[in-house]
Amino acid sequence: MRLSHASRTRQRTRKRAGGTIARKGKRVIYCRDAIPWLEKQKGLDAIVTSIPEMDEMGMTFTEYIPFFRSTARRCLEAVKETGYCIFLQTDRKYKGWVDKSYLITNEAEGLGMRLLWHKIALRVEVGKADLYRPGYSHMLCYSKKGKIGIPIADVVHRGEVTYPNAFGIDAVRHVVGYLKKQGVKTITDPFVGSGTVVAIANAMGMSAVGVDIDKAQCEKARKLVLERM
Ligand SMILES: C[S@@+](CC[C@H](N)C(=O)[O-])C[C@H]1O[C@@H](n2cnc3c(N)ncnc32)[C@H](O)[C@@H]1O
Repeated sequence: MRLSHASRTRQRTRKRAGGTIARKGKRVIYCRDAIPWLEKQKGLDAIVTSIPEMDEMGMTFTEYIPFFRSTARRCLEAVKETGYCIFLQTDRKYKGWVDKSYLITNEAEGLGMRLLWHKIALRVEVGKADLYRPGYSHMLCYSKKGKIGIPIADVVHRGEVTYPNAFGIDAVRHVVGYLKKQGVKTITDPFVGSGTVVAIANAMGMSAVGVDIDKAQCEKARKLVLERM
């Protein structure tokens, strides 16, 4: 991949055992609670995130659903009108089926935002069952005035994960690549975890902002380097 002069001057390099790995694009990680942080954000270019799971939050089901809805709304409200808000979420099998795509779309509609697309990332092979989680995750893109742009695949394999609750690397490449083609310059992940989204955004030459409440996760997110592929 050829870099422009501006990109070359922005290029950061990091030493690693066995060689030097190029990191293009800037990365800022804030170690704090994303909920009040999101409330102060207006006009972000794009969000790519996964709202934390019920067990990660230590909440009961009755507490979790309102938390999930209000967090989705805060993310949707933080992007600019022509921006994009992408959620990577896995449903729960709990007292039936908790459909997170329904919950987020319901919040988005209340804010006058459209579901631009709904893709699927496979977590297990076709024909295999998982007792507790569905074998696929949703990839959902919302915007008020953003264009749908070029078509991308509807079903992908999620790929490797950097830790058990992380989103798959291949699925993240898929959506970050879409945003790059849409002309997005900066991607924000308010629940950055180990940094899959910020690392891939940087590898594709985009700037990235991450937020996480957990110090150890912030350290990982600051250091993670992934290839563009
Ligand atoms: C599902 S993980 C994110 C995974 C990430 N997308 C990845 O691929 O690595 C959720 C993250 O949200 C963080 N988190 C939970 N509550 C938070 C809060 N109130 N503010 C910021 N981060 C929070 C957790 O520490 C965890 O790292």
